[in-house]
Amino acid sequence: MTLDTAPSAAAAAVSASPLRVPTVRPATSADDAFIEELQAIAFGPGRFSKTAYRIRERFPIDPSLSLVAEVDGTACGSVWMTPISIGGINGWMLGPLATHPNFRKLGAGKLLAREVTKRALARGDGQFVMLVGDRDYYCPLGWEPTALGNIEFPGPVDPTRVLVFAEDKSLATALSGPIAAWIQG
Ligand SMILES: CC(C)(COP(=O)(O)OP(=O)(O)OC[C@H]1O[C@@H](n2cnc3c(N)ncnc32)[C@H](O)[C@@H]1OP(=O)(O)O)[C@@H](O)C(=O)NCCC(=O)NCCS
Repeated sequence: MTLDTAPSAAAAAVSASPLRVPTVRPATSADDAFIEELQAIAFGPGRFSKTAYRIRERFPIDPSLSLVAEVDGTACGSVWMTPISIGGINGWMLGPLATHPNFRKLGAGKLLAREVTKRALARGDGQFVMLVGDRDYYCPLGWEPTALGNIEFPGPVDPTRVLVFAEDKSLATALSGPIAAWIQG
């Protein structure tokens, strides 16, 4: 599985140095202001009109899967996960993922995406991690394109950017239906 493979070339390059190596930890309420400011810097005021924002308004994020990346003890990145279901199958929507501009290209973004996905799927009660993002960034990490238009969003999205990570490789193309609430067991 790609999540357990060696770090990216960027991460490997920085790991040669004792400094500026990103690590990841769960977010706490003390990180709230940092995360809000980071999302504002990374996505600007347009973030509130994004379709993904509408999903997070309907279905709240799981705070226990909110992770922060640090470099030398300074918070520099963040990722959230929203529990959802699609076609009766539980999983998560990943995002927003952001790294502060002063700390980019150190591997923090990929570390956050890999780590939050590993932690979520290890729980065993959800089967996929879906996101809307760039194929060039996420596909080398194991995300796969979905069948165009199969997953129905409550607003416009570019269907070529809808990607899924799952142990069951058939899920990326099989997942179909509107994004709905997590189904309680
Ligand atoms: C995208 C983002 C999270 C990457 O964070 P990061 O910590 O710099 O990422 P990493 O260090 O793990 O990876 C950096 C590498 O990914 C590449 N990369 C960054 N954004 C990319 C993109 N959208 N598509 C393809 N490659 C991308 C960088 O060029 C760099 O390549 P290199 O390793 O060959 O130098 C950060 O640029 C960001 O916050 N951007 C604004 C918000 C955003 O677009 N979030 C993603 C939403 S899907």
